[in-house]
Amino acid sequence: MIFTVAIDGPAAAGKGTISREVAARFGFAHLDTGLIYRATGRRVLAGEAPLEAARALEPGDLAAGGLRTPEVAQAASRVAAIPEVREALVAFQRRFARREGGAVLDGRDIGTVICPEAEVKLFVTASDAVRAHRRWLEEQAAGLGTSEADVLAELQARDARDAARAAAPMRAADDALQLDTSRMSIEEAVAAAVAAISDRMDRG
Ligand code: DC
Repeated sequence: MIFTVAIDGPAAAGKGTISREVAARFGFAHLDTGLIYRATGRRVLAGEAPLEAARALEPGDLAAGGLRTPEVAQAASRVAAIPEVREALVAFQRRFARREGGAVLDGRDIGTVICPEAEVKLFVTASDAVRAHRRWLEEQAAGLGTSEADVLAELQARDARDAARAAAPMRAADDALQLDTSRMSIEEAVAAAVAAISDRMDRG
C-alpha cells in the first residue's frame, strides 16, 4: 500500500508529536524532514559550504545529537532558503513518501512541493505564545537555559524566513485540513489527525 500523510506547519505547532503518534498507530514510516535541514545546517556551522553539506548528508547525520539547539534551528532555516539545497534533498524525501507500507512526513513544504499527491494533508498551527511556551518547556527539560522571550523571538524569526522565502515557502496546500492546536491537548490533536486519515482510508 502506498499512502502518504503530509504534515506541515510552523515551528513547535505539534507536528512532530502528531506525526510520531500517527505513524505508530497506522504502522507507517515517519520522516521528520526538519532534521534533514538541521543536519545540513549543522555541517554548515562546522564550515562546509551549504550545497556540499546537503549532498554529503548521510543517514547517521539525522540521528546525531545536538540537532535540537536554537543555533542549529536558525542555521537550518537559513540553508533551507537556498533553492539548490532544497533540490538536492527532494529525491530522498519523495522516495520516502511513496515507499511501500505508508509514510508520514512532517515539514514545511510536504503537501505543496514534496508530495502534492499525498492522500492526507494537514497544516498544524498554534498561536505564537502557545508554541513558544511548549518549546520553552522542552528546552528547560533538555537543560537549555533560554528565556521564554528568547524562544518566542527565535520561532518568529524562523517562521518569517520560512514563509517569505521564494523556494518552497511554508504554506498550507489548498486541500490541507487546518488544525489549530492552541487549545487542544496532545490527545485531541492526535485524535483529529487519526480521524482525517481513517476517513480517507475508508473512502479508498
Ligand atoms: O521542523 P524544524 O523546526 O525541525 O525545521 C527546522 C528548519 O528547517 C525550519 O525552520 C525550516 C526548515 N525546513 C524546511 O524548510 N522545509 C521542511 N520541509 C522542513 C524544515
